[in-house]
Amino acid sequence: MVLNNFKILTFLIFIINISFLVNASQLKGTHFDRIITIVLGNSNYEESMKDPYLLYLANQGMLLSNYHGVWHPSQPNYIAMIRASKSGVLTDFNQDVEGASLPDLLEEKGISWKAYMENYPGNGFSESHSDDKLYVRKHNPFISMNQIRTNSSRYIYIVNADRLKKDIEDGTVPQYVFYSPNMVNSGHDTDLSYAIITFDESSKYLDSLTNYNHIYTVLIGPNVLKSMKHEDNGWYSHYSFVPTIEQNWNLSALGTGDDAESTPFDNEK
Ligand SMILES: *[C@@H]1O[C@H](CO)[C@@H](O)[C@H](O)[C@H]1NC(C)=O
Ligand SMILES: *[C@@H]1O[C@H](CO)[C@@H](O)[C@H](O)[C@H]1NC(C)=O
Repeated sequence: MVLNNFKILTFLIFIINISFLVNASQLKGTHFDRIITIVLGNSNYEESMKDPYLLYLANQGMLLSNYHGVWHPSQPNYIAMIRASKSGVLTDFNQDVEGASLPDLLEEKGISWKAYMENYPGNGFSESHSDDKLYVRKHNPFISMNQIRTNSSRYIYIVNADRLKKDIEDGTVPQYVFYSPNMVNSGHDTDLSYAIITFDESSKYLDSLTNYNHIYTVLIGPNVLKSMKHEDNGWYSHYSFVPTIEQNWNLSALGTGDDAESTPFDNEK
C-alpha cells in the first residue's frame, strides 16, 4: 500500500473544515456546495481498515463499507469517476475519450472545477508521465477527455497541486475539486464542503464476485452525518460519483451507459 505520506490528507481535511469566503456566484447544492475528491492508490478494504489514520478518518465521517472499484488496473477507475463509464478504457495506456464528462455538466451550470495533480507539468501536458515519473496520466482522467485536452480554455483547470495553497489563500478553491497525489504520496453554514476519500482499485486482482475490487471510501463534511451512524453498507462503486454530483446540482445527465448501474450516495443517511 502506497500510503507513506498522510500530510496531504491532513491538509485537505483541514481545508474542508475551515470557512471559505462565500462567493456569491457559487451555485448552492442540495447536499453540499463544494466537493473534494481525493484518490489514493491500490489498497483493498481490509488493508485500509488496518491503517490507524484511515480508521480515524472513517470515524470522522461516513464509511462506505461496500464500495467497489470497477476494473483493474487503475486508469478505468479514474475515467469512471468523471464519466460514469469506463468508456472503453481498460488499460493504463494513454487513451483518448470522445464525448462529454463531468466538467462539461459543471461548466454548463457555471460551477467551477479544478483537478489538482501532484507533480503535473501543466499547460495541457498529455504525455504518460512527467520526467520525474511522479505524475502519471493514468491518474488524471481529465486529460484523456478530447473536449478538455484539445481546448486551452478548458485544460487550464488541470493544474499542479502546488496551486491549491494559493487558491485557499485567495479564497478561490473551486466547487468541484479532484486531487491526485503523486506516485509517492499516494465550509461554514451554507457553504458546506464534502470530501470523498477513496482508492482507485483494490490490490487484490483475484477475488470473489461479491467482494470484487472492495475498497475503502469515506465521506467527510459537516453535512455528512445526519445520525450517529458512521457506516453505510449500501452497494456503491466509482460509477456513483457522477450521479451523486448530478443530483446535488441538478445537472443534466451524461447518459454514458454504465451509469445504469450507478447509485448515488445516500445523503439522507
Ligand atoms: C473551448 O472551451 C470554451 C470554454 O468552455 C468554449 O467556449 C469553446 O467553444 C471551446 N472550443 C471548442 C473548439 O470546442
Ligand atoms: C432541474 O433542471 C431542470 C432542467 O434542466 C428543471 O426543469 C428543473 O426545474 C430543475 N429542478 C430544480 C429542483 O432546480
